[in-house]
Amino acid sequence: SEPLRLGIAGLGTVGAGVVKIVQAHGDMLAARSGRPLAITAVSARSRAKNRGVDLSAYAWEDDPVALARRDDVDVLVELMGGSDGLAKAATEAALSAGKDVVTANKAMLALHGQALAELAETNGAALRFEAAVAGGIPCVKALTEGLAGNRVTRVMGVMNGTCNYILTRMESAGLPYDDVFEEARALGYLEADPTLDVGGIDAGHKLALLSAIAFGSQVDFDGVQLQGIERVSIDDIRRARDMGYRIKLLGVAQSGPDGVQQSMRPTLVPADSPLGQLEGATNMVVLEGDAVGQIVLRGAGAGEGPTASAVMGDVIDIARGVSIPAFGQPADTLATPRRANEAAP
Ligand code: NDP
Ligand code: HSE
Repeated sequence: SEPLRLGIAGLGTVGAGVVKIVQAHGDMLAARSGRPLAITAVSARSRAKNRGVDLSAYAWEDDPVALARRDDVDVLVELMGGSDGLAKAATEAALSAGKDVVTANKAMLALHGQALAELAETNGAALRFEAAVAGGIPCVKALTEGLAGNRVTRVMGVMNGTCNYILTRMESAGLPYDDVFEEARALGYLEADPTLDVGGIDAGHKLALLSAIAFGSQVDFDGVQLQGIERVSIDDIRRARDMGYRIKLLGVAQSGPDGVQQSMRPTLVPADSPLGQLEGATNMVVLEGDAVGQIVLRGAGAGEGPTASAVMGDVIDIARGVSIPAFGQPADTLATPRRANEAAP
């Protein structure tokens, strides 16, 4: 059968990880997809950079929008980042041409998810973003597929690997903030602008995306009450430990009769609880539904392999012909956001 032809825009931590999986597991991926997966073209800023992968078989495009428009690209895999600019332009170009898009770009989706989902549906294209939320943890699929029969009441968890890495390494290794920050950078966890990580904004983006899927409403990032970890000191961490607690950047989104409440902020959790024991870049996502009760998903929330794993799951779904609206239901059926702390209309 005809290969599904992939154009990869962005060859950094995640993009290189995707190329490695496609190159290492061609037969397995073809068997699971029902057709071969073929990378046909790639794009990044620097053509000369050594990325630890052989790109010689793929066409090169300097311009990711041109990549999205190529005749030999069926699916744009957008792994550049940035909420606007070229990532959004390339995504729009692909969707407008009726091409499917897989992206890890939570910043873009948190700000433009509704418009992009509408564009995808207008053009009969898929927009998939498992990798955008909690790295390797398949929490988007859990909500859009496995739990689709539930009325979801609450979504919570630790959703930023960098922050959890910093908070736990400062405590366990007794290292200063600057050292553990550099470790996180070397491990590929940081956003291009790391203030998004430590400011809680990246985790807020993720919570807003999960919340939209869970409660069937348009993404409401501005409705997330946000506080980052910048003001958490080593003394705060030690005091919490001495009282039997740990500090986690914890997100909670819950739906009640007045609307949806979303918060992402440093929170004390018991040190011996599952959340308290999360180490390093591990994330935990807790989902509560009226039929299923509570389920807990735990795993690597950032880094090359885990994030590429999530991207590949979406690519394989597309190759199989699995069709799911970006937010689990048609974009025009998503409710206008209503914040629980605001008066009902
Ligand atoms: P990197 O910074 O490692 O890679 C970004 C890539 O995009 C680079 O190859 C870069 O080119 C390319 N790029 C950036 N700007 C442009 C541009 N203007 N034109 C063409 N190419 C461009 O980022 P990550 O791989 O870490 O992240 C990619 C996406 O995945 C982001 O949206 C991020 O939020 C998301 N993500 C990342 C995770 C992680 O653990 N790293 C986890 C989950 C999601 P060049 O290499 O030449 O500079
Ligand atoms: N910078 C993000 C994090 C990458 O640290 O969680 C994964 O989304």
